[in-house]
Amino acid sequence: MQTAQSLTSMSGLPRLEARMLLELVLGKPREWLLAHDTDPLEPEAAARFLTLAAQRRQGIPMAHLVGHREFMGHRLSVSAEVLIPRPETELLVEMALQSLPDDADGSLLDLGTGSGAVAISVALARPKVRVVATDLSETAIAVAQQNAHQLSASVQFWQGNWYEALPPEGRFDVIVSNPPYIALNDPHLSQGDLRFEPVGALTDGAEGLMALRHIVSGAPHRLNAGGWLWLEHGFEQGEGVAQLLLDAGFNAVHTKQDLAGLPRITGGSL
Ligand SMILES: C[S@@+](CC[C@H](N)C(=O)[O-])C[C@H]1O[C@@H](n2cnc3c(N)ncnc32)[C@H](O)[C@@H]1O
Repeated sequence: MQTAQSLTSMSGLPRLEARMLLELVLGKPREWLLAHDTDPLEPEAAARFLTLAAQRRQGIPMAHLVGHREFMGHRLSVSAEVLIPRPETELLVEMALQSLPDDADGSLLDLGTGSGAVAISVALARPKVRVVATDLSETAIAVAQQNAHQLSASVQFWQGNWYEALPPEGRFDVIVSNPPYIALNDPHLSQGDLRFEPVGALTDGAEGLMALRHIVSGAPHRLNAGGWLWLEHGFEQGEGVAQLLLDAGFNAVHTKQDLAGLPRITGGSL
């Protein structure tokens, strides 16, 4: 009979990943696993674990195998149809929260919401803020709606192409976006987790700045006076995005670094 301990060592996976897969197949928390790691396991559970471990060794992302990812302390369901939320995107949430008016209400638009990570995190942190989110992908909108429902976050979703998804009238205090910004010919697209994520969430199909340029150019028609636009971008795109904002008439344009010290988020106010 296999045990959690023997399965972990034969899995060929880092211990943390093996433990997460064991938690999934056994339906038990970490504490149980620690206390019972030499108990004999049901053969069906062991076989299911070994199947998942093989998929993981082939490169399938952990978030796809377990079906969720933590973001800003919230558990978000993810599927192969949406981008897996990244830790660096938490900075986008932080900048959005800092840029909202102090009086607790206000409004925020999240363009290209994917799993809903950014919009839901803002809605949960600031329940009085009117949060609106869009995505081109109908499947992404469905995943985001389900996440908002499960986490009791109040977010209004619209499906469509960037600002065109929205009703014709309506402005916001803050617009945020983590759009596709990887160039079509970037070799990273065929490496790691990116191989398993929707291509429309990763690349603009061009040189990487096309979606960012479109979002910047449309923002003045959708921001209130004094409103902020914050954009996530590639670590080599900071100067390019800052220039787009300056050309569009934004003030106080500056770039923030992620936890790895890389330029990651650029924003400005009107
Ligand atoms: C990099 S993912 C970001 C997802 C999510 N905001 C996050 O940070 O985890 C980019 C998102 O933009 C969406 N997208 C791509 N093209 C779009 C378009 N033309 N209009 C609206 N959304 C678009 C994709 O479907 C995807 O969900």
